Amino acid sequence: MLTVARAPGRVNLIGDHTDYTGGLVLPMAIDRDTTIAFTPSPDVVLTSRNLGGEVRFKLPITDAPGIQPSWGRYVAGVAAAMNERRMPLHGFTGTVSTSVPIGGGLSSSAALEVAAALAYGVSADAATIAAVCRRAEHIATNVPCGIMDQLTSVAGIRDHALLIDCHTLDITPIRIPDGVSVWVVEVSSRTLDGSEYPARVAQCAAAEREIGPLRLADYESASTITDTVVRSRARHVVSENERVRAFAAALVAGDAREAGNIMYEGHRSLSRDFQTSTATMDAAVDHFARVPGVHGVRMTGGGFGGCVVILADDDAQLDRAAVPAGCGKAMRVRAADGASITTPLS
Ligand code: GLA
Repeated sequence: MLTVARAPGRVNLIGDHTDYTGGLVLPMAIDRDTTIAFTPSPDVVLTSRNLGGEVRFKLPITDAPGIQPSWGRYVAGVAAAMNERRMPLHGFTGTVSTSVPIGGGLSSSAALEVAAALAYGVSADAATIAAVCRRAEHIATNVPCGIMDQLTSVAGIRDHALLIDCHTLDITPIRIPDGVSVWVVEVSSRTLDGSEYPARVAQCAAAEREIGPLRLADYESASTITDTVVRSRARHVVSENERVRAFAAALVAGDAREAGNIMYEGHRSLSRDFQTSTATMDAAVDHFARVPGVHGVRMTGGGFGGCVVILADDDAQLDRAAVPAGCGKAMRVRAADGASITTPLS
């Protein structure tokens, strides 16, 4: 009988480049997902509808980063990460398909990792599954990502964003207010593999060596950091944690206008202090800010390309709005439940 493992992508409303220093984030799982339809088997044989090609490897996996085609690295990385923790797992034979745009900053890789973990038969709590999948990303690509994407894919809640404390991994669901919708626009395709993402992680670590954990730091201590680049990185993280709190409060109060203003501030901070935006993303933020009914726009996720996220009134006509050259169409996303596994009747 065919079993289907499903895991959604995510969009981050606010709180970028805070997760790997144990800070606050506010993402939501989205109604775009990756599914693996499979039957258990000794090895892994997986065909992709969207990504092209077939991935085959034997368990236990020894060379996860070298698996071809390259999307197979994520699948193999999960097996390697489960092995490291001595978690029992079985192989599977099946097909994978996805409605998460690939390389668009909506966590297509996290969705694939989480779906793969379920297909391997992982049995653990949400935080452990997310930690395994985060480790899988490190093994597969060497990108030292935080836990936000994988945890959101596992733990998403329909109609809610998740306020996650990335130190304690506590999750507080925050309802998306009625009358407000979330849109994403892909500005440029990219992967974080080969980007300056690891350099940002290293700069935050340098800041922490000087002033202690950034999640506990305030603006004043951040401004004492000697190196000007490291100082501005720390300034972003400290102010971004504050913005996540303020944004969550604005959503709870149903104040979309205030939430939107915080998104613009967050974008400026990522653009100027953290330097993860691009000229095209800055232009896209300015462009969509002018569409009637839009409350806020910012780049979302790791940056250096990817998507902008837009908070707007339900009747804002973003699907009809012109988009800047090179950008994808605006796509409305709804907050969705996290990963699941089902055995449909055959
Ligand atoms: C990527 C990483 C996440 C997070 C974001 C930036 O999506 O995978 O862990 O660091 O970038 O907020």
